[in-house]
Amino acid sequence: MAQLWGGRFTGETDALVYRFNASISFDQIFFEEDIAGSIAHTAMLAKQNLLTRAEADAITQGLTAIREDVKSGKLAITEEYEDIHSFVEAVLTERIGEAGKKLHTGRSRNDQVALDMKLYTRKRVQETKTLLRALLETLLSMMEEHLDTYMPGFTHLQKAQPVTLAHHLGAYFEMFKRDVQRMQDICVRMNYCPLGSGALAGTTYPLDRAYTAQLLGFTGPAANSMDAVSDRDYLIEYLSAASTIMMHLSRFSEEIILWNSNEYGFVEIDDAFSTGSSIMPQKKNPDIAELVRGKTGRVYGALMSLLTTMKGLPLAYNKDMQEDKELTFDAMDTVTGCLSLFTGMLRTMRFHKEVMAESAMKGFTNATDAADYLVSKGVPFRDAHRLTGQLVLYCIGKETSIDALTLEELQAVSPVFEADLYDAVSLRTCVEKRLTAGAPGRKAMEEAIQAGRAFLEQEQKR
Ligand code: ARG
Repeated sequence: MAQLWGGRFTGETDALVYRFNASISFDQIFFEEDIAGSIAHTAMLAKQNLLTRAEADAITQGLTAIREDVKSGKLAITEEYEDIHSFVEAVLTERIGEAGKKLHTGRSRNDQVALDMKLYTRKRVQETKTLLRALLETLLSMMEEHLDTYMPGFTHLQKAQPVTLAHHLGAYFEMFKRDVQRMQDICVRMNYCPLGSGALAGTTYPLDRAYTAQLLGFTGPAANSMDAVSDRDYLIEYLSAASTIMMHLSRFSEEIILWNSNEYGFVEIDDAFSTGSSIMPQKKNPDIAELVRGKTGRVYGALMSLLTTMKGLPLAYNKDMQEDKELTFDAMDTVTGCLSLFTGMLRTMRFHKEVMAESAMKGFTNATDAADYLVSKGVPFRDAHRLTGQLVLYCIGKETSIDALTLEELQAVSPVFEADLYDAVSLRTCVEKRLTAGAPGRKAMEEAIQAGRAFLEQEQKR
């Protein structure tokens, strides 16, 4: 056991207590961030004449070598240290001697861990954003390809009105676009550096906090030292945004599972993204979509866990905050993993256009358009709705559809119906006449796609 705080203690730490308290098994994930923070802190200490140039150089070289040795596998991070901060400092001192012991001047593990977690999260936020952008790219090219792939639109999972696949995918484009914006917002709001806040009340050394903030790519130093060491809002924001991404992926997965079923038969998931059954030879299961749907729960769980951890904490740092890590890391891995798998599954999925169009034609998805036809001939909408309802009832009895009725049958319900009704309720007309902004008609969709392209280009420039 190697501890940074042995001076005040005479007795040994109980072995169970030591293990319960230690975080090295999971905080070693940000060893690079820990070292980057220490290098910046060293540069600042030297600039403020709190370290000599020679000391600063020795520390910086020592830290750089530790980073390279850990990366190459030459140096193993072992559990005999309490946390990653203790490990780095101990190895440094072992390697360069006295100067190593000066690294922690004007710093506490409280501002150190706040910094490490922020740097690491900032990286994962960017990664999440990049993966979301790839998903948006995929959606956009699929939308371009499926402007006239007709399918039923649903409400209450009942066929409602016909739409296109481009329009349906466009709905998800909007959801994931907001997810990108959320990641961007988080980046902007979180980007203030806690380093130099000390344990909670700053330090008596003349630190230049703006300088370390700048070296580490922050907008500036965090304003209040007590807030800086105990702020985990950005993690809650990330977990909340990640939960929303998972909710979107899960809804989409649910639809793909339905579409992939024998009953729907709209899509076929590529062999590379499906699995079989050990007993039923005919099976090809949508396991990836199911797993994405299933993993949503653990990301929600991470959010609930951290909200609960934080709710009763008095200022400033409390050890409870160490619980901000494991579930958050798991959620980060889950959301990024799900995003890339999902995009791959989507990209390789085949759509059965004829089945989708056929399905859109059944189930009276053109009933609204038949009523609108009557309205265009001067019938008040309420009457048109009732008359079309009678028409549907008649069709159900005859097991047929509105467009398959003879003109005589139509006119028996309302003499207003004429031969141009057939074109008015065709699948193509039903979709193409829907041209309000945001609707599935081709012109409206082309505008949506253009706006989507513009959004992605803007994002690319950031
Ligand atoms: N492992 C701790 C954490 O993750 C680091 C900070 C420890 N600070 C302290 N005062 N014990 O929160």
